[in-house]
Amino acid sequence: MKIRSPIVSVLGHVDHGKTTLLDYIRGSTVADREAGGITQHIGATEIPIDTINEICGEFISKLAIKDTIPGLFFVDTPGHAAFTSLRKRGGALADLAILIVDINEGFKPQTYEAINILKMYKTPFIVVANKIDRLFGWETHEGASFMESYNKQAPRIKSDLDLKIYELMGKLHEEGFQSERFDHVTDFASQISIVPICAKSGEGVIELIALLLGLAQQYLTQQLEISEDAPAKGTVLEVKEEVGLGITVDSIIYDGVIRDGDEIALMDANNVVTTKIRSILRPLPLEEMRDSKNKFKKVDEVVAAAGIKIAAPNLDDVVSGSPLRVLSDQEDVEAELLKELEDI
Ligand code: GTP
Ligand code: NA
Ligand code: MG
Repeated sequence: MKIRSPIVSVLGHVDHGKTTLLDYIRGSTVADREAGGITQHIGATEIPIDTINEICGEFISKLAIKDTIPGLFFVDTPGHAAFTSLRKRGGALADLAILIVDINEGFKPQTYEAINILKMYKTPFIVVANKIDRLFGWETHEGASFMESYNKQAPRIKSDLDLKIYELMGKLHEEGFQSERFDHVTDFASQISIVPICAKSGEGVIELIALLLGLAQQYLTQQLEISEDAPAKGTVLEVKEEVGLGITVDSIIYDGVIRDGDEIALMDANNVVTTKIRSILRPLPLEEMRDSKNKFKKVDEVVAAAGIKIAAPNLDDVVSGSPLRVLSDQEDVEAELLKELEDI
């Protein structure tokens, strides 16, 4: 048995800061290079536990969180109204989610849509109140914890933030959720934590990550146990043509092991497609899988959780969102795959 990284999907209304938050955590600039500043595809990034410890090690040790989890596997989703199916796919994959809300704008149509996706899949989530630096008069403290920065603000700014958080609590209440600013939460099982952050300066990101690790270790360990030699299960994010590789599928593997040369089953619009893997390409840790600048490394095998690009014959008609299975000798996967596709 192995504990895999939890898959953490980031959901929220367009431009509320999903990609910028992941850029801060990765130390990257993906958001700046997006056409029109809009995310148009699902992204995936593996953040190893060492990097997480670098960002908030001291804070984690204070909370006595053990690092049994190998990392966090983040899924970035588009917030634009046009991309409902991609948001659903991101929601369906998630073990945990971050619902990001611009603290100055509050709830917007795709915030509600994201909440409905989280309700549908019963995904535990944390609410991030982003762009606190835009509160009038906020003094930025690069990389500080939220509490440290908050305590240095003028009283008027503090009460302005408190009021905005209170409004978010009201909106969440209307949606049937009890919530509190994270430092006032008394029971993580029944109350949603709200973490104020600035995705640009990183204020509050320490607490956000510590809370994600805490939730994962408290509520998910069974769900995260995988068998390292079971045939892999995954989901196709995108089908794309790549120079020199032909048609490939970008996929997230959430269980088991997948090897070069394995027979896999996927879905086209109606039927199961089987093929044999020609090569597996894996982005380096901290690299966004959909980033055009990204470099992939050819690997012989991958154990979940991982985002990989698969090259194989016969992938032309595979649909985004298709389930993916490594075939073992005897099983009949057709019914299973059809059911899973229906659920998404
Ligand atoms: P979509 O993926 O298109 O839905 O947008 P997104 O949620 O990924 O938002 P994105 O990261 O693209 O950020 C939108 C804009 O808000 C960009 O110009 C960011 O620089 C800006 N932004 C994000 N977070 C913050 C923040 O904390 N403070 C300030 N001032 N600007 C921010
Ligand atoms: Na954007
Ligand atoms: Mg984005």
